[in-house]
Amino acid sequence: MKIDVLTLFPEMFNSLNYSIIGRAIDSSLISINYINIRDFSQDKHNRVDDYPYGGGPGMVMKPGPIYRALESVKTKDSRVVYLTPKGKVFNQSIANELSSEQHLVLLCGHYEGIDNRIIEHYIDDEISIGDYVLTGGEIASMVVIDSVARLIPGVLGKDESYIDESHYNGLLEYPQYTRPRIFNGSEVPDVLISGNHKKIDEWRKKQSLKVTYLNRIDLLNMKSFSEEEKKLLNEIKNELEVEK
Ligand code: ADE
Repeated sequence: MKIDVLTLFPEMFNSLNYSIIGRAIDSSLISINYINIRDFSQDKHNRVDDYPYGGGPGMVMKPGPIYRALESVKTKDSRVVYLTPKGKVFNQSIANELSSEQHLVLLCGHYEGIDNRIIEHYIDDEISIGDYVLTGGEIASMVVIDSVARLIPGVLGKDESYIDESHYNGLLEYPQYTRPRIFNGSEVPDVLISGNHKKIDEWRKKQSLKVTYLNRIDLLNMKSFSEEEKKLLNEIKNELEVEK
């Protein structure tokens, strides 16, 4: 996958050169280019922003430099995403969908946003990474790159599968433990040491349902359940009732 990032602060993206994404870049599974929008200013002071029409606080990014930066990378196969708190809220299903694209162009805004004519005519998707406001789209862009890149075949090693992790099947992940078996007096659940894989799978499924029920009931409300899941969920509710 090729990714072009349009930004005023390319240096902010250095952190992507580490760990799994760094390895994916080194092995050419993804290539990321950074385009400085300021290089496309035609203003003698290299300005990229201006006062908003109609008044109000802050500055708006001018359409010209963004348009020229976009035109320098866009092809007919590009998917152009603008990171903005006004966008659709990003989730695993959007990450999955973006991971099958050949070419992503990520546009990072700053100040009070960008001239709306860019959004109307040149953007395919507006994406927000959550209901809070960042100082710019760079960190949001890195979140999208990280979560999309790890879904590209070959990026995760065979011991790093995403199959069981949170959000893969609409549930949050079950709790994980490693050695030592007793830590500060607290023991690893017996079932995980039993060697009985059927029991372990059942325990994990129930724990997955339980953590999702406790932390993200909204996810459960969107899910359809198997008979086994319905039974486990009832058990969880009864157990929690008893604990009260
Ligand atoms: N830019 C500023 N805040 C943002 C957010 N929450 N998501 C995406 N881009 C942003």
